[in-house]
Amino acid sequence: GRTAVVLVAAGSGTRLGRAMPKAAVPVAGVPMLERAIASVAAALPEAQIVAVLPAGHASLWQLCASIAAAPHDDGAPRPHLVAVAGGATRNDSVRAGLAAIGDAVHVLVHDAARCLTPPEVFAAVADALAAGARAVVPALPVVDTIKAVRAAPDASIAAEAVASTPPRSGLRAVQTPQGFRRDVLVAAQRQVAAWPAARAETVTDDALLMEMLGEDVYLVPGDERALKITTELDLMLAEALIAAGEE
Ligand code: C5P
Repeated sequence: GRTAVVLVAAGSGTRLGRAMPKAAVPVAGVPMLERAIASVAAALPEAQIVAVLPAGHASLWQLCASIAAAPHDDGAPRPHLVAVAGGATRNDSVRAGLAAIGDAVHVLVHDAARCLTPPEVFAAVADALAAGARAVVPALPVVDTIKAVRAAPDASIAAEAVASTPPRSGLRAVQTPQGFRRDVLVAAQRQVAAWPAARAETVTDDALLMEMLGEDVYLVPGDERALKITTELDLMLAEALIAAGEE
């Protein structure tokens, strides 16, 4: 296929406070990873999916094996799915996933934690890549005013201080799937692999690598349903969205 999806699911999910990796946490009864794979496969039935999993969690590997092997007599497309082990940071996990993809021209990097991302977001990213963009990110306007911060100017006050306030109208919150020309992303990742750990940790999304290479990163409309399930509140919201969709 010409498109591959690296689905990163190797995080520990400590902020959800469960005794299991986040991708295994049930969302309205279905493991987050299973929902994420189903949403990717529904949006991009021809794409190869590389699920990047926590090495030690057998149930997630079994889940991927059973999805890849399951007969699909209900007409739903069977995902082209493989699983690989992730790394210590999200970026390490992305690299592990990139190493496992075949001959794709384009790669989408997607958080399994955004397991309710609707097909329109995948389509918008894929369309921009097809139109020639080399880096594409879904984005939404921010609702909060965002402050840049600095250390407290008065050390007797135990609080950080505001450094500046970028105008909100010029800010966006970015989501996944983030889409790239595969050769450009692989080249960027090769550079990061040589960096000291402290600098590599500043890579919080894949588009940032493209910016550092001077690539234009295009923004397409994101969607509130593509929220990253991180906290208990996010999980409640996700389950409410699923319940509303089933009415
Ligand atoms: O931790 P955070 O919510 O930012 O993680 C975003 C996504 O990256 C999640 O889907 C998580 O599973 C994945 N991740 C990973 N490997 C890590 C850390 C995070 O695959 N070491």
